[in-house]
Amino acid sequence: MSVIEIKHPLIEHKLTNLRNKYTDTKLFRESLNEIAGLMTYEATKDLEVKEVETETPLQMTITKVLSQPVTLVPILRAGLGMVEGILQFVPTAKVGHLGVYRNEETLEPVYYYAKMPSNVAESKVLIVDPMLATGGSVNYTIDYLKGVGVSNISFLCIIAAPEGIAKVVERHPDVDIYAACIDEGLNEHAYIYPGLGDAGDRIFGTK
Ligand code: URA
Repeated sequence: MSVIEIKHPLIEHKLTNLRNKYTDTKLFRESLNEIAGLMTYEATKDLEVKEVETETPLQMTITKVLSQPVTLVPILRAGLGMVEGILQFVPTAKVGHLGVYRNEETLEPVYYYAKMPSNVAESKVLIVDPMLATGGSVNYTIDYLKGVGVSNISFLCIIAAPEGIAKVVERHPDVDIYAACIDEGLNEHAYIYPGLGDAGDRIFGTK
């Protein structure tokens, strides 16, 4: 298990767009997907490949292709905001959906929907959710996936709170966590500060 904060000037520039409260929905969506795409490079480094024979215009040679299915699992609804950016680089990935929302009073995850591809257990699964706050939703999602036989799981978020990281690491030490930034902490409403506000509302223009 490891926690990887992916530091890159392009990511930091686009993160400024996300944090800025005056950023409109269009730029917010674009920047979120672009960061997710840039993070994919790092988060897919351990994907399995196999050798194949390929004929170049000059001769036969040995090249490599992906040999392991990949499944993205966006945690509804904010996770949807990262899917297109990742699919740009892993276009053959399947997408499973898991619906979990946070009860704003108890802060506990509430499950309402799941639909996974049939080969999810053999897949490398990338769970995506822009904000790792208390860790409740992602821990629930990892529990669910392990329960249906998945063993190779990474989690990608844009901003993580140290409290949420600690919760996930404690319960699922085998899961790698990739974040574009680790922020200072959670406020009394379990929002990440300085954060970017409510990711779902900013992606979908609801408020
Ligand atoms: N979910 C969000 O969208 N933002 C936070 O700061 C925490 C959880």
